[in-house]
Order: sequence, then structure tokens, then C-alpha cells
Amino acid sequence: MIQTPVVVPLVAPQVTEAEIAAATAVLRSGQLAGGPQVAAFEREFADSVGVGHAVAVNSGTAANHAALDAFGVGDGDEVLVTPFTFAASATPIVMQRAVPRFVDIEPRTYNLDPAAAAAACGGRTRAAVLVDLFGLPFEPNGVAALDARGVRVLEDACQAIGASRNGRMAGSLGAAGSFSFYATKNIMTGEGGMLVTDDAATAVRARRFRHHGQGAQYEYLSLGYNYRMTDITAAIGRVQLARLETLTAARRANAAFYDAALGDLEGVAVPFVPTGVEHAYHQYSLLIDPGRTGNGADRDAVRAALAERGVASGVYYPKPLHLHPLFAAYGYGPGDFPVAERIAGQILALPIGPHLDRAQLEWTVRSVRAAVGAAET
Ligand SMILES: Cc1ncc(COP(=O)(O)O)c(C=O)c1O
Repeated sequence: MIQTPVVVPLVAPQVTEAEIAAATAVLRSGQLAGGPQVAAFEREFADSVGVGHAVAVNSGTAANHAALDAFGVGDGDEVLVTPFTFAASATPIVMQRAVPRFVDIEPRTYNLDPAAAAAACGGRTRAAVLVDLFGLPFEPNGVAALDARGVRVLEDACQAIGASRNGRMAGSLGAAGSFSFYATKNIMTGEGGMLVTDDAATAVRARRFRHHGQGAQYEYLSLGYNYRMTDITAAIGRVQLARLETLTAARRANAAFYDAALGDLEGVAVPFVPTGVEHAYHQYSLLIDPGRTGNGADRDAVRAALAERGVASGVYYPKPLHLHPLFAAYGYGPGDFPVAERIAGQILALPIGPHLDRAQLEWTVRSVRAAVGAAET
């Protein structure tokens, strides 16, 4: 390990005295669950996304699961989904005993285009999970084609809080949207999640689903789970939500710094941002093409060189979902989704969060440039 002037961590949760005070106040209040904080967080969250209803749950996974249940996805139905995402975009399909039907991604945005999804619809297709990967909202034009086929769209906006596309907030582009407040997310509560929708029936069904399927108390109408959020979580979430603009602005400023300093590198693509998109930069992922970098370095070599200089990095995601045993069991194999498979081998996320100072950004830039054989400045 060489001497490094600066250490650059990949992520750091942004906790201030305000979050600590909010959590402490709930602990002193005597009402830790089912109380006013959850209701207030839901209202404020729905307003921030610009939708009618928000249902607080205890993870983004639970939000995805509740949405698919509310859509009526069940035994033997097919649900379209990208193979290039975190597992929890697709595992709720399996939880509902439905079949994940993967469709390859766009090479520049890494998202699944709804028009491509619509072309893959079959007779049993009931829903589509469209992910706003890394914080970039998917292209919504093709949603109408899915609607026309009766396919309900769940926008997995777990990585995209605060992002927008043509003025519409992430989470509001489909029939329902999901968010995660896991510890590394742009706003976080440790664990937590939210489902948003403009459809009152979807919200009612999701509220029941998170609370053991109960209608009236101790009356069980349908299968449900314990997916409730605590008031401690909600209180922390409210403070984080109030800070969302500031936290997002810091990520965007860091991204602009990297764009300016790395945009000229041969063999390195900085994130593509389509016109009309305000990116949330949950991740800032480079694409490293080993055939074109100055020194022939590939993603893993760049990652190792960064680590040598104290710069942490991440790979989201090293293997597309269809190549994992859980999903390969549906008959998928290597070569099925060539774009996702190529990108999984070239993608590399740099530290991007609000925890970074100027010296850390500069050191990261110098280290990336050196790693691909370019002049450091
Ligand atoms: C795209 C995506 N979907 C779903 C999830 C699941 O969220 P959680 O970890 O809160 O269950 C995550 C994050 O972890 C995610 O990044």
C-alpha cells in the first residue's frame, strides 16, 4: 500500500443532531409504533413526490412486494423486469409465485426501456418493474404501450429519491413507486421504505398487506405480512426528507466535478444524462472499456489501483440477475442479455455522497486518471 494523502470512503450516513433529537423525542413519547410520526411522514412524502398516497413500510423490498400484491400479481403471472439491478427489484415477483421475465437494458442509461418491455409482453404478463437505476428515472414514453396491454408499471425508485424526468418526480412515473431508506441511500433511516401511488385502491390494499392483511382489527381478509414502519424510523425520515434538497445538491455538485475532470478520458464513459432528467446520483458509475483505456486497464485493474491509493469504489452489479441460481432456475443462461452482461463487467462506482470534501474529490479524480494511464491533472 502506497502512502495516500487522502482516504476516500465510498459512503457515510448523513446524521445530524436533528435526527438524533427526533428519534429521542419518539423514545420519550411512549408511542413507538402506529403513531403520529408515521402518518406525518406519509403525508410529507406523498407531497414531495406529487402523488396522492404514500404507505410507509419497513424496507424498499416490502414496498415492491406490497405493490405487486396490490396489482393482483399471483400464481403463474409474468412480470417484466431488468436483469441489471439489485435482487429486491425481482425477488418480490418470486414471493408472489409469479415468473420474472427479464428484458435487456439500454446501453447508455442501463435502464429497461418500457417500449422494449412492451414488445416482450405475453398473454400472462401482468406487471412490469421498471428501475430508475443509480438515480436516473426511466424513459416514460413507452408506459402507455404497457398500459394499453393492461400491464401495470411499478417504478422501483429505491435509488432515485429526488430525481425527476421532464418535471415529474421519480416514483410518479408508473401506477406505483417504491423507495428505500436503507443506510446507504440518499436519505436513510437505517432500514425503511415507502410505496407511493395516485390510485386509492392500491394504497388501501398496500396498507392492509403491511399489517397482516387485516381489515378491521383481528379480521384477516388476505395474506399480509408485518411490513410496518416504526415511529422512530418515521421521525428520522422526516428530518432526512427536509434535508433532501441539500443532500441531492451536494451529490449533483460532486457529479459535475467528476464530469468535468473525467469526461475526456479515452475508454471511460461518465454517466449519460438524457435531456429533461435531473439525476439523483445514488451512484456515479463509470464504464471502463479495456480495449480503449490508455494503458489497457480493465474495471478490476482500475478498482485495484484506486484501492492502492485509498479510494474506495463499488461494483453495482457484478453479475446480472439471470445468471444467479435463483433466477437461472427459470431457464436463463449466459448470452441471454448481452448488454447487461457486458456492462456488469465494465461498471465501476466512485464515491459520490455528500460526505466528500474537495480534497477527496480531487484525489479521486487524480487516482482514476492515473489508473487508466492518463495525465493526473
Ligand atoms: C433498485 C433497488 N430496489 C430495491 C431495493 C430494496 O430496498 P431495501 O434494501 O430497503 O429492501 C434496493 C436497495 O437496497 C434497490 O437499490
